[in-house]
Amino acid sequence: MAIDVNRGAQSPVGPSAFSKPGAREARILSMGGGKGGVGKTFMTANLALALARMGLRVVAVDADLEGANLHTCLGVRTPRNSLADFVAQREDDLVKLLVPTHHPNLQIIAGTHANLAEAQPGHLRRVSLMRALRKLPADIVLLDLGAGSHAAVLDYFLVADDGLLVVQPEPTSVENAYTFLRAAFYRRLRLAMVGHDVRSLVSQAMDQRNERGIRTPFDLLREIELIDPLEGRRFAETMRRFRPRIIINEVRTAEDVKLGFAISSVCRKYFGIEVDYLGYVNFDEAARQSVAARTPIIESREGSDAAIYLQRIAKKLAGASNGGEPVMDTVDAST
Ligand SMILES: Nc1ncnc2c1ncn2[C@@H]1O[C@H](COP(=O)(O)OP(=O)(O)O)[C@@H](O)[C@H]1O
Ligand SMILES: [Mg+2]
Repeated sequence: MAIDVNRGAQSPVGPSAFSKPGAREARILSMGGGKGGVGKTFMTANLALALARMGLRVVAVDADLEGANLHTCLGVRTPRNSLADFVAQREDDLVKLLVPTHHPNLQIIAGTHANLAEAQPGHLRRVSLMRALRKLPADIVLLDLGAGSHAAVLDYFLVADDGLLVVQPEPTSVENAYTFLRAAFYRRLRLAMVGHDVRSLVSQAMDQRNERGIRTPFDLLREIELIDPLEGRRFAETMRRFRPRIIINEVRTAEDVKLGFAISSVCRKYFGIEVDYLGYVNFDEAARQSVAARTPIIESREGSDAAIYLQRIAKKLAGASNGGEPVMDTVDAST
């Protein structure tokens, strides 16, 4: 293929790449995408194992409580205890929910046995979950998110140091990815605003057909600057810090590879968002087979193209974060 964004990965790193002196908190990565079936869980399982193999202590968390299957991709038998116990307040200590995998550096918190009537935690429980995730004994916590743009999913995405978005080269996936990014972005902006008037203006702008004619974050910024220049500066700064990263999955052609650049430039032009194109994974029949065999492809078919691309992405991830800023403790109580 003509363009190889998967190049440029750094050499393998040891735990030292993460252990900032004195820092004990885990780095959180979230795997979103807006749409189901695009490969979020497949990606989470493989990247988690790849990072663990580099010597990092990894916990993969199945936050898709309505469709938990991360454990299956990692060959773990349906765990009896899971994140659902934390959500239902049966267990406050996430460490007790850790389940080993066959790799010593990789543990999971499954999403099995959720109460499907109310699978996701309410906002207060979400805040304590996010705090607890950072305190897990790990270098990296990788969250596998469900589909859609539910407030809980957006918060899992926003709380991460790196919000990763899996996109398939097909119109429905691209459309859902934009919807997801837009929802996450506006939520992030609203959380950053202090004044009531400005917050409600952001809420109005979330309605795409709002009567004030606010169509893009740039329009919104202009309106906010008129009300309150200080909030305007905060808004611009928040825009600058929102830095999701995309992965194109199931790539078949050079055109598919370029899609990552196209999404990046649309986001810059129309949303003012800097989206980092992290890499792509090609369509590979071995990927489907690896899921059927409940073994990550980087293990079962190490030499396959998909496995090689996944490991390149893992190496990039093990390098620096994208410079974005997570929103700890700012889960919006209004939703
Ligand atoms: N790169 C790929 N090539 C071929 N098939 C893939 C690839 N990535 C994922 N798949 C297939 O797509 C299915 C759905 O992926 P999954 O990770 O469960 O999606 P999501 O978590 O986004 O709903 C997987 O079970 C696997 O069979
Ligand atoms: Mg999934």
